[in-house]
Amino acid sequence: PYETLLREANDRPFAAIVGWPVEHSRSPALHGFWLKQHGISGHYGRLPVEPKRAALEELIAFLKRTPNARGCNLTLPHKIDIMPLLDRIDPLARHIGAVNTVIKQPDGTLEGRNSDGFGFLEALKQGAPGWQAAAGPATVLGAGGAARAVVATLVAAGVPELRLVNRTQKSAIDLGVAFTPSDGRRIAVERWDERDAALDGATLLVNTTSLGMKGQPPLEIDVGRLPANAVVDDIVYVPLETPLLAAARARGQRCIDGLDMLLHQGRLGFEAWFGQKVAVSREQRRAVAADL
Ligand code: ATR
Repeated sequence: PYETLLREANDRPFAAIVGWPVEHSRSPALHGFWLKQHGISGHYGRLPVEPKRAALEELIAFLKRTPNARGCNLTLPHKIDIMPLLDRIDPLARHIGAVNTVIKQPDGTLEGRNSDGFGFLEALKQGAPGWQAAAGPATVLGAGGAARAVVATLVAAGVPELRLVNRTQKSAIDLGVAFTPSDGRRIAVERWDERDAALDGATLLVNTTSLGMKGQPPLEIDVGRLPANAVVDDIVYVPLETPLLAAARARGQRCIDGLDMLLHQGRLGFEAWFGQKVAVSREQRRAVAADL
């Protein structure tokens, strides 16, 4: 795969999505759109890397010795395991506990950052302009890697109360302990089979579980318990319209899908690798969503 990537890059600056598997990643399409839009001579490819320490070490050595390698994105299952191999982790990525973007510095060292929380918040702000973090409680479903970025971001954004619900309750409790702020605001953990009750009065619901994804069962939850002006955000993006979003839309609630988060999280890496400020647009969304 390294040979293929080098051939495709053809001496141009490049980055890549690193994961296992990576065949279905939308990242090459979203970065490819920006490269073309701005007429940048560069490349963004795919790099399948096995979930083994030696394979990640090989990746690090490749990025360091290849002059035109600018960095990479990381997806499942590498976001945590890459951390000890990097030269520096920025404070936000350290706080979230995962790295999704690696940027090669001018001195050749590798810095890890996390843009998932940024992507989540930007998608939310642009998709639901009136939504205010301080206005009411937020409910987050799930306690995996994505939930960590979402919870850290919502706490930092100022939500007055956070409710966490996960099938494995212990993971939600651990996450709540890790992200409870020191200013007296609470993170409440609710039981999975009582998740409907966690929606009462919440102004934001975020699904970070894989339920509703193609091939997975739908997420069963009564969005009718949310206030009419609530925002429902599903970070799943295959399909774009999950059963959760369809139910929320039918009630007139504002909906955010996972594709916007994906597009926005890409900005941080792109701007650092290729030195060009970029914006998410309808055209880009259409291009990336084309075969979803
Ligand atoms: P990610 O990094 O994308 O968040 P993950 O770490 O695998 O992925 O987390 C998946 C989340 O979906 C978890 O919160 C998981 O719940 P558990 O902690 O109980 O495993 C949740 N999830 C997956 N399948 C589920 C199902 N069938 N019912 C309920 N929750 C499910």
